[in-house]
Amino acid sequence: MKTYLVTGAAGFIGSNFVKYMLGRYDDVRLVCLDLLTYAGYLGTIDENIDGERCIFVRGDIGDRKLVDSLMKDYDVDVVVNFAAESHVDRSIENPQLFLQTNILGTQTLLEAAKAAWQTGKGADGFPTYRDGVRYHQVSTDEVYGSLGKEGYFTENTPLDPHSPYSASKASADHFVAAYRDTYHLPVSITRCSNNYGPYHFPEKLIPLILGNILKAKPLPVYGKGENIRDWLYVEDHCKAIDMVVRNGKPGNIYNVGGHNERQNIVIVRTILTLVREEMEQNPELRTLLPADKREDLSWIGEGLITYVTDRLGHDLRYGIDPQKIKDDLGWYPETDFETGIRKTVHWYLTHREWVEAVSGDDYQQYYERMYAGR
Ligand code: NAD
Ligand code: DAU
Repeated sequence: MKTYLVTGAAGFIGSNFVKYMLGRYDDVRLVCLDLLTYAGYLGTIDENIDGERCIFVRGDIGDRKLVDSLMKDYDVDVVVNFAAESHVDRSIENPQLFLQTNILGTQTLLEAAKAAWQTGKGADGFPTYRDGVRYHQVSTDEVYGSLGKEGYFTENTPLDPHSPYSASKASADHFVAAYRDTYHLPVSITRCSNNYGPYHFPEKLIPLILGNILKAKPLPVYGKGENIRDWLYVEDHCKAIDMVVRNGKPGNIYNVGGHNERQNIVIVRTILTLVREEMEQNPELRTLLPADKREDLSWIGEGLITYVTDRLGHDLRYGIDPQKIKDDLGWYPETDFETGIRKTVHWYLTHREWVEAVSGDDYQQYYERMYAGR
């Protein structure tokens, strides 16, 4: 039995990882640590928490005392750090919080892992650690900056972050590498492209567009909608992290992506088409639409799209070269984009109670602040 400390477990990818691990293995115990910020919702994982194989603790990754006690009390073998402030637009509004959570929080976890796992000092002066331990950092392709029309990010692409969010994630990656090089802590890092799938917080492009269609509200597309993101179904990201933690060489970095690049405007049009198809095929879903818009669905189309002021410093294109994780670990994405986006649209249409539960007053205020008059 291995014990994992899974931070950010009540967020989008963390919660999918919890479900993935519990569904796949009988011999893991997960200690889920989450501060339950606006982006964390306990309802997403509460059916998984049984107090034995899956334990939940509300708290801050930056709280050294708490993290130390969890490492000790549960005898943690593996730390997987999902916890972060994750939204680029919010980082433009409030960079400080990103520094606090993403950089200082990561360094606190690294320090606590080092303290808990160190067994002594080798003849070379470096610390030694007990067998089978691993600190894994969930990072992002955004640390590499932006691509032009050609080429892909490889693990050797120099870090060149542009937003306060990506600068904080790049800095965290540097700390992880520093703990590897200075203290020989067994670490690994995955840098994944844009995820999509169930439990994606409504502020992000795909769920935001879906939610606005259902309210017949304008669909805000930044700039000309030509920016490109490389989309991966969230379960394929979870599989990659699991493989890297189990079989990835300590100290290594792995890019994760499935060659699914799409312009934002193409994503928006795809969602419009799929929502309309679902409404046509399952008329009972039309009750999700405003009462006066359920009969004739022709309004679900191009007319809803509104081009709004661009995101400051908006990266043009991300594109991942995943060759290393494929060659070294045999990882491959199982869900292609066409299947994954259909599943995702269907999930959002049939889980409105989850969307309502996470879109409280705070989120409504954020939306008004971010999009009014843009
Ligand atoms: P999310 O915003 O949905 O979830 C973040 C979770 O972290 C929330 O549950 C939140 O409550 C928790 N959290 C925030 N601050 C905390 C703190 N101080 N202590 C404990 N918990 C805290 O984010 P996500 O999209 O699930 O992303 C998870 C990780 O994956 C992040 O590190 C992000 O940088 C990385 N990532 C995300 C994507 C993506 O497309 N979403 C792609 C690549 C990498
Ligand atoms: O690439 C990985 C990153 O993907 C992760 O590290 C981040 O945590 C995650 O949030 C995501 O960042 P993006 O900025 O790419 O995701 P977002 O959904 O915010 O935006 C996707 C694209 O859509 C981006 O080019 C901006 C654009 N966009 C976004 C919103 C919210 C719009 O055009 N309109 C919108 O309303």
